[in-house]
Amino acid sequence: MLDKNINLEGKNVLITGAAGFIGSNLVLELLKKIDSINILGIDNLNDYYDVRIKEYRLDEIEKEVKKHSKSNWKFIKGSIADRELIDKVFNEFKPDVVVNLAAQAGVRYSILNP
Ligand SMILES: NC(=O)c1ccc[n+]([C@@H]2O[C@H](COP(=O)([O-])OP(=O)(O)OC[C@H]3O[C@@H](n4cnc5c(N)ncnc54)[C@H](O)[C@@H]3O)[C@@H](O)[C@H]2O)c1
Repeated sequence: MLDKNINLEGKNVLITGAAGFIGSNLVLELLKKIDSINILGIDNLNDYYDVRIKEYRLDEIEKEVKKHSKSNWKFIKGSIADRELIDKVFNEFKPDVVVNLAAQAGVRYSILNP
């Protein structure tokens, strides 16, 4: 267990790859563990594996956030390679913390599908 955990209470947290395996579970854990948190998730929902799995995860997050009235969740379907989008997110959402979990398993695939 870390002895220097960051206090995320009331913070703006940007999570990329939020519909992915790790990202979606992180969002759920943060909603459950932090009383009041603002989470912005970005994911391009690419079809590297079945998109329905990612949509299911987003549905689970929507269900969870309803139980936490002091927290906010917003999802943007978009790519972290979209400079304009990322600039807008940083200017408007002003994240305190960024967790970058957007990822492509295959190097060749990542070049062909930014
Ligand atoms: N799954 C594991 O056991 C594990 C273990 C250790 C580390 N990791 C690392 O954690 C990270 C996430 O892994 P995961 O298992 O959640 O993978 P995942 O494929 O389930 O999730 C990655 C997500 O990123 C999204 N994405 C890809 N390119 C994007 C882009 N340009 N813009 C926005 N979104 C984009 C995908 O749509 C996907 O939903 C990876 O870096 C992986 O190497 C995973």
